[in-house]
Amino acid sequence: MSTDSPVTAPIGSAASPADPARAALAEAVARRRNFAIISHPDAGKTTLTEKLLLYGGAIQQAGAVKAKGEQRKVTSDWMELEKQRGISITSTVLQFDYSGSTINLLDTPGHQDFSEDTYRTLAAADNAVMLEDAAKGLEPQTRKLFEVCRMRKIPIFTLINKMDRPGREPLELIDEIEKELGLACWPVNWPIGSGDRFRGVIDRRSQDVILFQRAERGRQSEERRLGAAEARASGLVEAELLDAAFDELELLDGAGADLDLEQVHAGELSPVFFGSAMTNFGVRPFLDAFLELAQRPTARQSSAGPVDPLAPGFSGFVFKLQANMDPRHRDRVAFVRVCSGHFEKDMTVQHARSGRAIRLSRPQKLFGQEREVVEDAYPGDVIGLNNPGMFAIGDTLYLGPKVEYEGIPCFSPEIFAWLRNPNPSAFKSFRKGVNELREEGAVQVLYDTDASKRDPILAAVGQLQLEVVQYRLENEYGVKTRLEPMEFTVARWVSGGWPALEKVGRIFNCKTVRDPWDRPVLLFRNDWNLNQLHEDHPQLELAAVAPVVSGVEPIAL
Ligand code: G4P
Repeated sequence: MSTDSPVTAPIGSAASPADPARAALAEAVARRRNFAIISHPDAGKTTLTEKLLLYGGAIQQAGAVKAKGEQRKVTSDWMELEKQRGISITSTVLQFDYSGSTINLLDTPGHQDFSEDTYRTLAAADNAVMLEDAAKGLEPQTRKLFEVCRMRKIPIFTLINKMDRPGREPLELIDEIEKELGLACWPVNWPIGSGDRFRGVIDRRSQDVILFQRAERGRQSEERRLGAAEARASGLVEAELLDAAFDELELLDGAGADLDLEQVHAGELSPVFFGSAMTNFGVRPFLDAFLELAQRPTARQSSAGPVDPLAPGFSGFVFKLQANMDPRHRDRVAFVRVCSGHFEKDMTVQHARSGRAIRLSRPQKLFGQEREVVEDAYPGDVIGLNNPGMFAIGDTLYLGPKVEYEGIPCFSPEIFAWLRNPNPSAFKSFRKGVNELREEGAVQVLYDTDASKRDPILAAVGQLQLEVVQYRLENEYGVKTRLEPMEFTVARWVSGGWPALEKVGRIFNCKTVRDPWDRPVLLFRNDWNLNQLHEDHPQLELAAVAPVVSGVEPIAL
């Protein structure tokens, strides 16, 4: 099939259902669920991840994935910088089986180690779990990550955490999501009491009462499911708390909306759950309902039309590159999200961008720090490939008719700095390092429009990206650099390019720079200046996210 032929049904969707290989593939796809957790630091992502892994039997005790502080320093010999800072730069995927499903949890760093990788990981996710602290509600990092999910229209499941502590009113939290994110909510369960008097939840669909008993840290909690009348008679929960919870549920039911799965899968309606990850309240009911309602790997858009996961030919795309995961080997790993077909070790696949065939002889599955060679993988899975510099973010690998997945956009940077090389004799290594790190997606690079100012401007979404670039330039390319922070916090790409910019004439309170594809980018000190420009020149169209460029080589330093 040619790449530009119009396709209506997803590629691969018409194959014979009687084929045993296809039946095995269909079975594997049906059991897979893939998701990422989006949250603000301290909402409880690590704690929730740990509890989910405990249910999946993937770890034996709590504390095994606590990726922070001293413990992290002991268990990780990852990157020196990582050790110094006691943080995890590298997000990977955690795979575990639970209740007949194979779950891929894509890890998105949400702390001070926030970077573009966090956004890119969402390009590989089929579902997102938005985790909120009941006392805080929506927080800035969650909002940003939500916007990326919205761009991709992925289903969002909301889990309101820390119900064992005093928090905001549940109705108020829901209202905030609906109003501020414009995301309709459908509570799947409803809390009975909160803080010291949190007694459990009502399962809205069955109207059962699920009572929880506080468990020791790391132990699975005791959950008792009782009918409403039984719960009332049991004396295990105060009547007034139960009445209040049922009254609120009635209010919600009165509002009329149904749990419409189509709307959930279109990212328009969020099933909402209440619980407490730390004390294990509500984690299992959440996981069970999530597996039932979440979107399984679905058709993905490509240059040849949507590709069905059941298409017989393997295909996937690179969503993340990671260097130096094992400093002893100075290796680079490309993470590939499998989109269609059955992937098998030693397969020879096509690399869409270069047109070359590549044998994938050492695919890896990564579980935190550990790696094992994978024999096979299915749509929704993530595999790690050794990357001798061949793969770039967004690259497609495929077998059979050519497909090329939509690239991953550059995200709007918020931190900018000149990168100075004080040693002119190291210019060659400096240039090589900057260009390679940009290609790898470690940071975005912009240039002054004045050609005499040759130093690159680094642009990032997290401060850590800049530190990583400096660190790697020194350790891998032998160049010591200096960063000079710039006062900008907002970048916008000019949609009509240079002609559109010239048309509006002189503009104020922003700096015009160019990206590696020679497109104009405007840098602003703050949103106020940006809004001012919108008011002065409403006809000038600006984009917060850089459109993907394909087929055009970037300008190097
Ligand atoms: P993060 O990965 O999203 O940053 O959050 P993390 O799981 O590290 O949790 C942040 C803090 O919130 C931790 O406390 C954790 O124990 C606590 N926490 C998580 N879930 C709950 C919950 O359901 N209820 C309550 N009460 N607390 C919760 P910490 O003091 O920072 O760390 P630690 O000493 O407890 O490990």
